[in-house]
Amino acid sequence: NLSGLDLRAEIDRLRRERNAVILAHYYQKPEIQDLADFVGDSLDLSRKAADTDADVIAFCGVRFMAETAKILSPQKTVVLPDMDAGCSLEDSCPPEQFAAFRAQHPDAIALTYINCSAEVKGLSDVIVTSSSAEKILSQIPASQPIIFGPDRNLGGYLARKTGRDLILWPGVCIVHEAFSETELLKLKAQHPGAPVAAHPECPAVILDHADYVGSTRGILDYAMAMPGDTLIVATEPHIIHQMEKALPNKTFIGAPGADGNCNCNICPYMALNTMEKLYVALRDLTPRIEIEEGLRLRAKKSLDAMLAMAS
Ligand code: 13P
Ligand code: SF4
Repeated sequence: NLSGLDLRAEIDRLRRERNAVILAHYYQKPEIQDLADFVGDSLDLSRKAADTDADVIAFCGVRFMAETAKILSPQKTVVLPDMDAGCSLEDSCPPEQFAAFRAQHPDAIALTYINCSAEVKGLSDVIVTSSSAEKILSQIPASQPIIFGPDRNLGGYLARKTGRDLILWPGVCIVHEAFSETELLKLKAQHPGAPVAAHPECPAVILDHADYVGSTRGILDYAMAMPGDTLIVATEPHIIHQMEKALPNKTFIGAPGADGNCNCNICPYMALNTMEKLYVALRDLTPRIEIEEGLRLRAKKSLDAMLAMAS
């Protein structure tokens, strides 16, 4: 029973005792973002995990992010508060089917979104994140055929933006698929002139209305620099916490789903992490990420290619 505990103080104590670093994604609950040592997008979190001199990484995000930390920093203990924190994109791309897809396109290289399993990373040539995809794609010769998976929305966006012909895997993020174009147009009409910032995991019908498309950190940077006082945010709404902290006099509105509010766009996987589970993870050093060494080395190759090409 943890009900009598000052969880924030206990997490602080354990963090010091264990020489742990707490890394959090922008989609985490505000109380977790506020106590993290670092909050970032997938690329920045990967870089932090690769660089840290802590003994323990408590990763407040989803499993593929914590696995990436372990692949890049195998000597560290990596804990994830809830091992069920998966990702619909990862689920859409089982490794055997991905291997068969690759076999159908023997001339193509596999450029793969980081939202996938370690096995799929091991079957890929270069990993990308939403903040690094364009830069990485621009370094691949125009004549080179490319498979892009698992997110067909990010892949479609990249293909339209760069004019490249990408062979797409048909996965989607259930969270970004849930935005409603009709409700977004209603919201825009209520806030004339307010720009829309969207994550590239949104379908094209939503991106078509966006003034800015980018990763979570990109969306945050856009919010910091925007001249107006209202922004419509088409990504997981917990990111708004950082915007409200930095710009308390501005208004940030989560883009709506079909029911007219942004609650259906909360990522159910990210939401599994809680202060209680983070406390237990630091106390017991479990649930712990373990990756078999052969698999780790296969997955590391495509992640190292990302880090080199994104820098
Ligand atoms: P970012 O790399 O933009 O933070 O995206 C991570 C993610 O899971 C978006 O749904
Ligand atoms: Fe996966 Fe979508 Fe959740 Fe990001 S928001 S972790 S892509 S399910």
